[in-house]
Amino acid sequence: MNDRELRPVLEGRALCKNYGGLRAVVDVSFEVRAGEILGIVGPNGAGKTTLFDVITGLTPATSGDVLLGGVSIADASVHRRCALGLARTFQQPTIADSLTVLENLYLAASFRRNRREGGRAGDIAEAVRHLDFVGLTDRADTPAGPLGVFDKKRLMLATALATNPRVLLLDEPFGGLNPQEIDHVMRLIRTLRDGGLAVVVIEHVMRALTSLADRVLVMHHGAELFVGTPSEMLADPQVIEVYLGQRHGADLTQREPRA
Ligand SMILES: Nc1ncnc2c1ncn2[C@@H]1O[C@H](COP(=O)(O)OP(=O)(O)OP(=O)(O)O)[C@@H](O)[C@H]1O
Ligand SMILES: [Mg+2]
Repeated sequence: MNDRELRPVLEGRALCKNYGGLRAVVDVSFEVRAGEILGIVGPNGAGKTTLFDVITGLTPATSGDVLLGGVSIADASVHRRCALGLARTFQQPTIADSLTVLENLYLAASFRRNRREGGRAGDIAEAVRHLDFVGLTDRADTPAGPLGVFDKKRLMLATALATNPRVLLLDEPFGGLNPQEIDHVMRLIRTLRDGGLAVVVIEHVMRALTSLADRVLVMHHGAELFVGTPSEMLADPQVIEVYLGQRHGADLTQREPRA
């Protein structure tokens, strides 16, 4: 690994987000490198999704900074951050229901980083490649609205990839999936990581999270409670008390029912 690869691709510095009197994100710092998976866990309402909202510019941070490739993007719009290489999937499938699967990919490609030459033929070739990667080739001309949750989540992943990201932020990619579907999506995420993407994944499914993540950030009441490897996290008394402890006796391989 050379110096360039050692530098974080994405950094959050002392990020805070207040909604009125509610402190949703409290002084959170993190970094993630190319070819690395950072996991984010914590109880419902801990501020995980809000952290993604602040990183992607969906809502402005109250204070703190976000750096992509060492450059602050704190003042950039959502579209600009996407064009610079930040892509995200949402906790609930967020796609254009009235468009077909393929049309969703063309739409996403219009926000692509480093727009290519090659016009429509190039767009089609790339869209087909992304559909093939996630396993949705046979759904290309299907309207997206009626798709099941597994197909919608894979389509959302494909649309994120269509923007040619450097960093992929995944908000609960396994929520609502069965164990086989979880395994499938885990393989996709590993392949992307091995290809050099920096990945940040919020997840409650501990089996998936602990096997995927290189490091884990545990959030509680908006703040950082713990940062370390998955095995260190599983043994940490504070993490057990505020998060894992709630799950004693539960099957940690499955999604917990939401509060
Ligand atoms: N747009 C908003 N306006 C006001 N409060 C908000 C807004 N978005 C989130 N919150 C509040 O911020 C806190 C953190 O919510 P967030 O959705 O980030 O939690 P989370 O860790 O993603 O939880 P979950 O595991 O349930 O998805 C919660 O108290 C939530 O109600
Ligand atoms: Mg959330």
